[in-house]
Amino acid sequence: MAKEQVLTIGDADDESAYPIYVGSGILHRLRERVSARSYSQVLVLTDEQVEEHWGEVIGDLLPEASFLTVPAGEETKTLVTVAEIWETLLEAGADRETLLINLGGGMISDLGGYVASCFMRGIRFVNVPTSLLAQVDASVGAKTGINFAGVKNCIGTFCRPDAVIIDAETLTTLDRAQWSAGLAEMIKHGFIYDEGYLTKIEKALKKEWTPKEFEKLIADSCRLKATIVQEDEKERGIRKLLNFGHTIGHAIEAVAAASHEPYLHGEAVALGMLAESRIAEAQGILDASSVNRLEAVLTKAELPTRFDQELDIEELIHMTSFDKKKSGEFVQYTLPDAPGSARINQRVTPEELEEALQSLFIDEE
Ligand code: GLY
Repeated sequence: MAKEQVLTIGDADDESAYPIYVGSGILHRLRERVSARSYSQVLVLTDEQVEEHWGEVIGDLLPEASFLTVPAGEETKTLVTVAEIWETLLEAGADRETLLINLGGGMISDLGGYVASCFMRGIRFVNVPTSLLAQVDASVGAKTGINFAGVKNCIGTFCRPDAVIIDAETLTTLDRAQWSAGLAEMIKHGFIYDEGYLTKIEKALKKEWTPKEFEKLIADSCRLKATIVQEDEKERGIRKLLNFGHTIGHAIEAVAAASHEPYLHGEAVALGMLAESRIAEAQGILDASSVNRLEAVLTKAELPTRFDQELDIEELIHMTSFDKKKSGEFVQYTLPDAPGSARINQRVTPEELEEALQSLFIDEE
């Protein structure tokens, strides 16, 4: 990545406006943020895998910080873990002037953001995302949340971080599947909002791709998401665009997790985007060539386009009914109408949903 970019969410006269730093080798920003205020204490929430890779670097940068390490994986994002962290904060004497640094992937920024938003009615937190998916999506936009009763992100808050520090160097330890999972959200940004950006991703994926080629595109994705969130932080309108692929994707993620063959969030979203674009095609609002274009770019990104496991279709259909975009009896879908454009608040019949899910079971020739 060439040099650091600074995006801001919130208006200039808004004291809760926060910067998003995007660059490479910029973790020193964390030291600056911590030194800029006199916090009573600094706690770093991370998971075991991230601590192994980045614990020492962050420990050297912030010698005053204590680490609070939880097991890696989405199954950690529960109310039980939240209660354990709150207890640890109390035992450590945390107060309203305590800073929580969320160092890790989307699980950590969702969990840590939720913990911070409620503890003592809200303490400050900074997100330092270390997965591609968290950098381009989860850490930006002030959503926090945990899974509850088998439903993805069912409990949560909107709460702004003090800052987000996105350092592409932290991606060097990611495996290929994690890269692909992050690419799913980047492809989503292009498909719902910016056809030119989608084309850039397609070009980058044309040849044998290496993660390095995507560093420049991370800043583009963050800018795109920041533009949407700046206009509609509380998801009353345009932000719903970002839910493309997620109504079905969250259902797939929840059902697969319960059957102990979990998909990464980005993998489930890839399958969800394909199914939802097939619904748009069935409704006559998206043409077949656009669906094929989406499938091709997902394939290039090494994302699944068919189920690789047995999933109960009735269970999948049932889980879509827990979608947070439900209004009254109807789940409201975000459906694309062309690459780079989508419609929010769309209704889908049970038959359309079933047919789209069935298409994910069909073997490729
Ligand atoms: N991940 C979707 C959103 O932040 O709105």
